[in-house]
Amino acid sequence: MAEKMTHEQADALLRKYVKGENYITHSMAVEAIMKGLAKRLAPDDVEYWGCCGLLHDLDEETCPWRDDISTHGPTSAKILKDEGWDDEVMANAIMAHNPLCGKNPETTLEYALIAADPMSGFVKAVAQIYPDKKLASVKHKSVNKRFNETRFAAGANRQYLMEIEKTGISWDEFIDIALESMLEIADEIGL
Ligand SMILES: [Fe+2]
Repeated sequence: MAEKMTHEQADALLRKYVKGENYITHSMAVEAIMKGLAKRLAPDDVEYWGCCGLLHDLDEETCPWRDDISTHGPTSAKILKDEGWDDEVMANAIMAHNPLCGKNPETTLEYALIAADPMSGFVKAVAQIYPDKKLASVKHKSVNKRFNETRFAAGANRQYLMEIEKTGISWDEFIDIALESMLEIADEIGL
C-alpha cells in the first residue's frame, strides 16, 4: 500500500457516497471510538483506525442491504477500490464488521471495528434516557446496567460488542474509552 488514508480523504469519500445525516453522525461516532481504541492498541495508526471507523458504512446508501445483508461491506470494499484505494487491511476491516457478508473478524483492528459500531448506537441510546439527552450525563454505571437488559437498544448486537475483549481491552475499559471519545465530538454529533 502506497499511502495511508487521512481523515480529510476519508471524510470526502464518506460525503460523496453517504448523504443521510444520521448515517454521517453515526460514522463520526464510530470514527471517534476507533481513534480512542487505537490510542491504546495502535498508537501509530490513530488516524488510520479513525478512517476505518468513518468509512465502515460507506455503502449504506449504495448496496441493497435491506434485501441482501451480505452485500453490506463488500460493496464498500469495491467503492474503495474503484476510488483508487487498494487497501486490503481497510477493506477486510470494513467487511468483517458485518460477518453476514462471509468475512469474520480476526485481527485487532477487525475486532475493534465490529465492537465500536454497535457501541456508538448503544451509548447514544443510553444518552436518550436522560432528561437532557446529553452524552455528558451518561455514567459508566448506566451503560453497564443497560447492557444486561436485552430488550434495551436491542439493535446493538451484544455479541459484537463483546468482541472488544479479543483486543485485550475489557468491557469496562471499553465503556470509558467510548464515552470519552464520543464526548469529544458531542456537539458535532448532536449529543
Ligand atoms: Fe455502523
